Amino acid sequence: MVISLASASPSASPAMLENLKAQMKLGSSHVMFRKEKANPFIKTQSSGRITMALAVNVSRFEGVTMAPPDPILGVSEAFKADTNDMKLNLGVGAYRTEELQPYVLNVVKKAENRMLERRENKEYLPIEGLAAFNKVTAELLFGADNPIIQQGRVATVQGLSGTGSLRLAAVFIERYFPGAKVLISSPTWGNHKNIFNDSRVPWSEYRYYDPKTVGLDFDGLISDIKAAPEGSFVLLHGCAHNPTGIDPTPEQWEKIADIIQERNHIPFFDVAYQGFASGSLDADASSVRLFAARGLEILVAQSYSKNLGLYAERIGAINVVCSTSDAAARVKSQLKRIARPMYSNPPIHGARIVANVVGDPALFNEWKEEMELMAGRIKNVRQKLFDSLSAKDKSGKDWSFILKQIGMFSFTGLNKTQTDNMTDKWHVYMTKDGRISLAGLSLAKCEYLADAIIDSFHNVS
Ligand SMILES: Cc1ncc(COP(=O)(O)O)c(C=O)c1O
Repeated sequence: MVISLASASPSASPAMLENLKAQMKLGSSHVMFRKEKANPFIKTQSSGRITMALAVNVSRFEGVTMAPPDPILGVSEAFKADTNDMKLNLGVGAYRTEELQPYVLNVVKKAENRMLERRENKEYLPIEGLAAFNKVTAELLFGADNPIIQQGRVATVQGLSGTGSLRLAAVFIERYFPGAKVLISSPTWGNHKNIFNDSRVPWSEYRYYDPKTVGLDFDGLISDIKAAPEGSFVLLHGCAHNPTGIDPTPEQWEKIADIIQERNHIPFFDVAYQGFASGSLDADASSVRLFAARGLEILVAQSYSKNLGLYAERIGAINVVCSTSDAAARVKSQLKRIARPMYSNPPIHGARIVANVVGDPALFNEWKEEMELMAGRIKNVRQKLFDSLSAKDKSGKDWSFILKQIGMFSFTGLNKTQTDNMTDKWHVYMTKDGRISLAGLSLAKCEYLADAIIDSFHNVS
């Protein structure tokens, strides 16, 4: 309880205050006294010569419960708090050097230097973002010579990285396709469910991962997509599926496209790793381009967090491929309408970096080389982890699934209790679904990680 002595009683002595406490029969630990000016907004109560303002010291936010830590970002917080020298953070999907340090790409530094030299201003961007960025981002995704671009059939709006772009699309679905379901893979990146839940878009899962083979459950995937209500949205990871690292083969992509077309579904791609999966920007966009070449209307969210290392710049885009340029113009106008009350217009810095790198032939080539190096480092670590597991594990277990996976992540198949052991005993931080980010692993730490995985796999049920 707070008792404020209004300025009308400047003569209140400590003895008087003690007396007052006693009269109110309150434990002194529950009573605070402070001198303050009379506040016209606090109801006051008169008691002899002393005017008191009584306020119960209970927050208006008492009903707000503590949110659980984010399953991915919460891992980094726990990692920071660990003081053990052997600790390893394989939770968040962020690229590290062999020394396990964050990496700023040389092309990004060069682009930023150019931007500084030009002394560009910081005026607001239009709601749809930087025109030069929107142009190059669609070209990077679909290929510059793709007829859908020349025909003006792609509505591109700059978004707040992959997450913000997915969110724009989710609100668009909720508004223009009320009741339509989004099908998401089981498992998927943890934030997908949050995005659709918060946008009030109903979703259900299609089978994707087969624990028996630690591979793709292709038959399950096909039958679940077939069984979904006609006209559903099917969320597909363009490449480097997160968390499993398991991608369909080109033939399987064709089959998925057949079923989607047959069922009149709308493909919705999430492309967060273009170039990072195989090292080739074109190869990693082939799934999206295959669907576009069939003349389908598609949604594609893009992110530059990983492939350009622009995690904190929040730069990405939502692209909606429409059958006509007229529809594309209308869709774009509505995406802008959704963005305006959410964040008004997007940030400029990351958009300029991407426009400078992708739009400049010399920097673009340099970027491709750097990306190949990053993707190459991850492939080397993947190979070394497999070699270490195979050499150390005498049980005869086949670890080759690790080599079949692609991109930043490996799905180890470890269950929650086993991942707890990885963290509690070995100080290896990872998500509870058994995913590890190989981008956070060095060659030097592969053997240690292999020991931790073998112990957790064989000694913990
Ligand atoms: C599948 C997938 N989609 C989207 C994102 C979005 O990331 P960001 O919002 O940083 O671009 C991520 C990041 O981990 C991801 O893995």
